[in-house]
Amino acid sequence: MMLSSLLTALAAMTATVFSAPLASRALADLDLVVLQFALTLEHLENVFYKQALQKFTEKDFADAGFDKNYFNNLRFIAQDEEAHVVVLTQEILAAGAKPVESCEYNFGKALDDVKSFVSLGSVLEGVGVSAYSGSAPAIESKDLLTAAAAILVAEGLHQGIQRQGLQQVPSANIVGTPASPTAIFTLASAFIGNCPSTNMALPFTAFPTLTTPQTGAIAPNATAIFSVGGAVAEPFFMTFVSGIDTISVPGKNENGLLMAQIPAKTQGQTYAFVTKEAAIGAIRDSQVLFGPAILEVTADAPTFDLTIQ
Ligand SMILES: *[C@@H]1O[C@H](CO)[C@@H](O)[C@H](O)[C@H]1NC(C)=O
Repeated sequence: MMLSSLLTALAAMTATVFSAPLASRALADLDLVVLQFALTLEHLENVFYKQALQKFTEKDFADAGFDKNYFNNLRFIAQDEEAHVVVLTQEILAAGAKPVESCEYNFGKALDDVKSFVSLGSVLEGVGVSAYSGSAPAIESKDLLTAAAAILVAEGLHQGIQRQGLQQVPSANIVGTPASPTAIFTLASAFIGNCPSTNMALPFTAFPTLTTPQTGAIAPNATAIFSVGGAVAEPFFMTFVSGIDTISVPGKNENGLLMAQIPAKTQGQTYAFVTKEAAIGAIRDSQVLFGPAILEVTADAPTFDLTIQ
């Protein structure tokens, strides 16, 4: 195909995905929920980056060891998140619904210093990747699915920039980690305070909270520690979701602290859940007692086989 005709084809496709309202073809109710859910997450990211860029200067980043190149990329990330808010808002309006508006957010100590901001930024981008990939099965419209995939790529690139900034391996896992809307809603809810009462209530109920005192990366095979508000009696399982691997291991309760060995196959941003049974293949919402907690599992040395060609 000639380059010019390829560009024309791409332009036509982009117009379909982003400009012509998807909704003029009447969106299924569930697709509208997915759009409102995505907009809820994009508002959170947009405000997070705007607050950071209001607070920290390029010099603050440089003093914390994040160079000019990082700072420039950060401003592109802020541009993208803002544009995602605008695009999703337009799509929901075009569907004849009222787009959710931004809320009050509580980012805790993450905006106290540059390093903490980048750490949470990396986690939130990973959550974005998990949200868009994990929502795919719920999306009915192929056009919306394509738009979601396109935004997913942006979130993945952002995650790579943030992980690189933290000197973590950007591509720690061979694939991203899909997570269910309920799991994502649980994670996002931790940062969301009061919302306008006119915002559509999302049809999800957060799972009970699972926390970990772990800060920084943990190695595969190490023992991870968690705690929950209530009591958990043995037997129970800690289920780890990393990439497209879901691995359950028996958990131990030692004086109220829950412990489990990090499975060797987990790498990068990993979600941990307390489940009543071992999850086979994939985790189902109905199996979750508490979670997810987020862990960063150190990527082992890369392995590949030169004879596979
Ligand atoms: C984890 O344990 C497995 C099985 O014993 C071993 O093959 C692997 O090298 C260990 N990985 C690390 C990082 O210790």
